[in-house]
Amino acid sequence: MDAKSIERAYTVFSGFYDLVFGKLFHQSRADAIQLLNIRGGENILEVGVGTGLSLPYYPRNCKVIGIDFCEPMLEKGRQRVGQYQLSHIQLMKMDAMKMNFPDNSFDSVFAAYVISAVPDPHQVIAEMIRVCKVGGKIVLLNHFKNMNPFISGCEKAISPFTKKIGFQADLDLSSLLSGKPLVVEKKRSVKPLNYWKVVQCTNRKGLNGNGNGHGNGSGNGAYPAAYSTLKR
Ligand SMILES: C[S@@+](CC[C@H](N)C(=O)[O-])C[C@H]1O[C@@H](n2cnc3c(N)ncnc32)[C@H](O)[C@@H]1O
Repeated sequence: MDAKSIERAYTVFSGFYDLVFGKLFHQSRADAIQLLNIRGGENILEVGVGTGLSLPYYPRNCKVIGIDFCEPMLEKGRQRVGQYQLSHIQLMKMDAMKMNFPDNSFDSVFAAYVISAVPDPHQVIAEMIRVCKVGGKIVLLNHFKNMNPFISGCEKAISPFTKKIGFQADLDLSSLLSGKPLVVEKKRSVKPLNYWKVVQCTNRKGLNGNGNGHGNGSGNGAYPAAYSTLKR
C-alpha cells in the first residue's frame, strides 16, 4: 500500500466513515483510551486520528494532539472538536511515518484502527516509540492476524483486495512487535465480535532487558467506559 492510494481511499471514506465505523466501535475506543492510564497534565498523541471518533473519550485535564495525513478526515475531526468544545485537543496534518515531533514529546501514544492502514506499520511503530517517553504507554487498537489457521488463511487471501481499499487484513502482531523495545502489558479482544484487539505496551527504549515485545499480555482488569456518559 502506498501513501497516495491510502490517502485517496480515506478521502473517499471521509463522507461516510462515521456511519460505518462510528457507533459500532465506540466501546472499543473508550476501552483502549482507559488503557493509556492518563494522568492530569499529560501530553498524549493519537496517531491516524481520522474523523476524531475517539476524541470525546479523553479526559479534559490532559493535552491531546491528533495527527492524520488525510485532510478530509481531519476536517471532520475539527468539526467534532468544535461540536464537543474539546479545547484540550489539537489536530494536525502529519505523516505518521515521519513525525515532526522531537524525541520523548508524549507521555502516551495511541493508534486506533490505524496500524494496518499505513504504508509501513514498522516505521509507524518506530516513530511512536521515538516520540513517546521511556516508561510511557503505547496502545494499539486493531485487527491482527487471527490465531485460527482457517481464519488467518482467509485473511491472507483477501489481503490483496483489502489493501486496495486502504488496509491490510493479515498484519501479524508478533512480527510487528518483534525486536521493538515494547513490553506487552495487556492484550485482549474487544467488541464488535471480539475480532479486534487492544494491546497495551510499555515503552522500554534505551533500557536493558525485557524490551523484546514479548510481555505476557495477561492483564485482565476491568476498565470503566466513558462511553455511556457521552451523548451521541
Ligand atoms: C481506519 S482509519 C482510523 C481512524 C480513527 N483512528 C478511528 O478510530 O476511526 C485510518 C486512518 O489512518 C490515517 N493514516 C493512514 N496512513 C497514515 C499516515 N502515514 N500518516 C497519518 N495518517 C495516516 C488515514 O488517513 C485514516 O484517517
